[in-house]
Amino acid sequence: MEPQTTCKNNPDPKEIILNSFSKVFGDSNGIRFFFAPGRVNLIGEHTDYNGGHVFPCALNLGTYAGIRTRTDSIIRLYSVNFEKDGIIEADCSKDLVSSPNYKWANYPLGIVQTFRLRGMTIPTGFDIVFYGTIPNGSGLSSSASIEVLTGYCLKMIYGFDVSSQDLALIGQYSENHFNGMNCGIMDQFASAFGKKDHAIFLDTATLQYEHVPVKLDGYKLLIANTNKKHELTTSAYNDRRRESEEALRLLQTVVDIKSLGELDEETFSNYSSVLKDDVIFRRARHAVSENQRTIKAVKALNNNDLVTFGRLMNESHISLDRDYEVTCEELNILAEAQWRSEGVLGARMTGGGFGGCTVSIVKDEAVENFKKTVGENYLKKIGYEATFYTVEIGGGPRVI
Ligand code: GLA
Repeated sequence: MEPQTTCKNNPDPKEIILNSFSKVFGDSNGIRFFFAPGRVNLIGEHTDYNGGHVFPCALNLGTYAGIRTRTDSIIRLYSVNFEKDGIIEADCSKDLVSSPNYKWANYPLGIVQTFRLRGMTIPTGFDIVFYGTIPNGSGLSSSASIEVLTGYCLKMIYGFDVSSQDLALIGQYSENHFNGMNCGIMDQFASAFGKKDHAIFLDTATLQYEHVPVKLDGYKLLIANTNKKHELTTSAYNDRRRESEEALRLLQTVVDIKSLGELDEETFSNYSSVLKDDVIFRRARHAVSENQRTIKAVKALNNNDLVTFGRLMNESHISLDRDYEVTCEELNILAEAQWRSEGVLGARMTGGGFGGCTVSIVKDEAVENFKKTVGENYLKKIGYEATFYTVEIGGGPRVI
């Protein structure tokens, strides 16, 4: 999704929406407010469409909405982050088809259409104003947060019987079919199932999950944004997905599996000679090793072994760089500078890659020095600044 603009001086999001709603739609009588979070993935990258495990958590950053129903079938959408796009209009009594004219509103409108396809036709139109606090193009799932938020608004306003899992699946379906991004389930699931101070250990093959407390006594979760624009993400992402599917198809000729996530490293090495193409081999090796790392990392966290957790984060980055090839110069420079920095237990790229952010675990008293040394190093090598955020793990969709 297009970058959202970060709010300056942290004004109250509700206030921002209220003002904007009155300005754009005449008055703000009777509007209701909702929020859904973005996410950061701690470990388990590019495993979600390979039937593996992921370990993301929801953030306090996300998307807010103010919504009010209408008496006709018109939907009017407005985003404080994309003021120049003005009001975008659609008619919910007809099937909606994605269109460049809908711009950013393809995300919420895809959700309306997916509800419709599932037999939940929206009974009336509505006016809605969105406001996102997820930093510019950061890969912290602004699209998943707006998808889950829209589904949550429809559920709350019209009383549709949809579970949190439905919200996640509807979001993913819409992103795949309406927005052409062949993503897995992780981002929408993390947004829909967010829980304060917990990460979500999700088996994407079964959608079984567990909320795991993230206790970082004496340490902080830090996100560093490369601030790199990443236009090629969707096509390169879809390529990786195809390569993984090709690896699975070839492995299925010699071993009975439904996904790469069913293989441990040893079984993989028994059968991997069937993967003659080095690229396909490395894609599969990442999917297998990353899944095993994720399982080990959650065990380590449960044992309060943050050192092992951090080491597995570093290994994850290296595998994403060498085997899966979804990092980039900016992400590598950031990660490498962090590995050299004092008080860092682990650092890795997070999300789809090709730009976006790293996530790391840094000792409380080392944070300031970390930002300074890593920031200077990045600026010197890349020529523009990285941005750092200490983040909090927040809850899922809610009324505000
Ligand atoms: C993007 C996708 C997710 C997942 C990650 C990589 O964020 O939306 O489904 O595949 O990339 O782990």
